[in-house]
Amino acid sequence: MLLHFDDEADFATRLARASRLEARCVDRHRFPDGEVKLTLPVPLPASAVVLRSLHHPNEKLLELVLLADAARALGARNLTLVAPYLAYMRQDKAFHPGEAVSQQIVGRLLAAHFDAIVTVDPHLHRVASLADAVPARRAVALSAAPLIGAVYAARKERPLLLGPDAESEQWVKAAAGALLDYAVCTKHRVNDHDVRIELPDTPLAGRDVVLLDDVASTGGTLVECATKLRAAGAARIDAAVTHALLDADAVAQLAAAGIIEFVSTDTVPHASNRISVAGLIAEALK
Ligand code: R5P
Repeated sequence: MLLHFDDEADFATRLARASRLEARCVDRHRFPDGEVKLTLPVPLPASAVVLRSLHHPNEKLLELVLLADAARALGARNLTLVAPYLAYMRQDKAFHPGEAVSQQIVGRLLAAHFDAIVTVDPHLHRVASLADAVPARRAVALSAAPLIGAVYAARKERPLLLGPDAESEQWVKAAAGALLDYAVCTKHRVNDHDVRIELPDTPLAGRDVVLLDDVASTGGTLVECATKLRAAGAARIDAAVTHALLDADAVAQLAAAGIIEFVSTDTVPHASNRISVAGLIAEALK
């Protein structure tokens, strides 16, 4: 059985079809004071998959704790969390004294409630594997990079794939495969909304360039890259990310910065979704 919430019904349908699981919605009642009550379908099988993409994660994390504990009480022995977007992975060390290392804290919370976790392109930079961040019995990190790369490898004008920072090299390299050129920029983050980008030495004048990153949040990183690329004479600039977290204003800023086409995978529901990871996740579940 695939358990999901009403706001992810579309992806649940795609995943259920691809994985041949029965999709059932968890009913969520919100009390006037903000508390929630979940009602799970009964009877519940011994093994269940829970779908929850963790954009805007704070309330969802508590809902997952309620759901997992209720499922255990109903007899579930094997719970797999499918979190196409896994939040809190970027805070992977205390950058300043006193900071909570959210990656480890959230990872342990999820591992305490789920036997296995499957996610896509988690932001793992200073840790070697997903299991180091989420110590569940099985922790599977899939990558949408080859799916994204295939879209651009099919274009006649083979574009250059460009990552905004050293961390993005893992995804850009995998997306480029043997067919496309790739390079990465150097990024210095000033604050949540302000980044400085230095382009690589690669020739860019007259080239089609696709900016590629795991996540776009404020969109500031892509805007800054596009601004630098226009100044360097790039012929066309597009952008693709696995997880589109940005709002409509931020999308408008991408266009204003000269990004012609912005696409994303469906790990997070977004108007830019063009590439589905449902089949990729279904394979992993099998
Ligand atoms: C950070 O290292 C990530 O890979 C992204 O580059 C970053 O989160 C993008 O954030 P924003 O869209 O706010 O610039």
